[in-house]
Amino acid sequence: METNKITIAIDGYSSCGKSTLAKELARSLDYVFIDSGAMYRAVTLYALNTNCIIKGEVDEKSLIEALNDIDLQFELNPRTKTPEIILNGLNAEGQIRTPRVAEVVSKVATIKEVREKLVFEQRKMGSQGGIVMDGRDIGSVVFPNAELKLFITASNEIRIDRRYKELLRKGIETTREEVKNNLEQRDFIDSTREESPLIQTEDAIVLDNSELNREEQLAKALQLVNDLINV
Ligand code: CDP
Repeated sequence: METNKITIAIDGYSSCGKSTLAKELARSLDYVFIDSGAMYRAVTLYALNTNCIIKGEVDEKSLIEALNDIDLQFELNPRTKTPEIILNGLNAEGQIRTPRVAEVVSKVATIKEVREKLVFEQRKMGSQGGIVMDGRDIGSVVFPNAELKLFITASNEIRIDRRYKELLRKGIETTREEVKNNLEQRDFIDSTREESPLIQTEDAIVLDNSELNREEQLAKALQLVNDLINV
């Protein structure tokens, strides 16, 4: 029997483990997982590939005009059982996680028209409930009525360390310093921008995972879901 599937919004600063938790939570609950950051990254990749970004400068007018040409879909990778982003018919998962995209994605994410397009699509994906979405404005803007809102935090050192190791594992050349600078820069832009900045909403539950491993973090979140569903 179909039980009441809720909407779960997960927000937080860069590289705090939001996507890992969202992915595992969705798998445990048999919900849909959407990484909204992947959508901002894919728009950024498109902008880079079409010269709407040159030397770190975003040509906002051209990008806004091109928004209708950007089609974003998620497709389940049968091996990892994780949704991957498809940009205009091509899998862009590998390319969106590179420093080239990370360097400018937060600038692109300040553009009102970009956010309007992506928020519209995110709401469509979540219209039936049974979704775990992670990002920066999920609890505040995309799903303000989400039944469960989590705000994830972790110490700066741990966030830098996790992202650095993740990039090395993927064979991407970088330094700890570069990762640190990028996270600091994105956190600053994301939390001070005019359009739906990253905030912790009053009704969000804070989960600091600095000292938690993946299983412990997942268990805590599942407990919160169970408390909600079984009232
Ligand atoms: O995984 P990581 O924490 O590095 O970032 P992400 O979730 O992939 O998001 C990349 C960037 O997209 C963020 O730094 C934000 O600038 C932007 N973003 C946003 O503005 N709103 C969202 N809902 C998700 C991401």
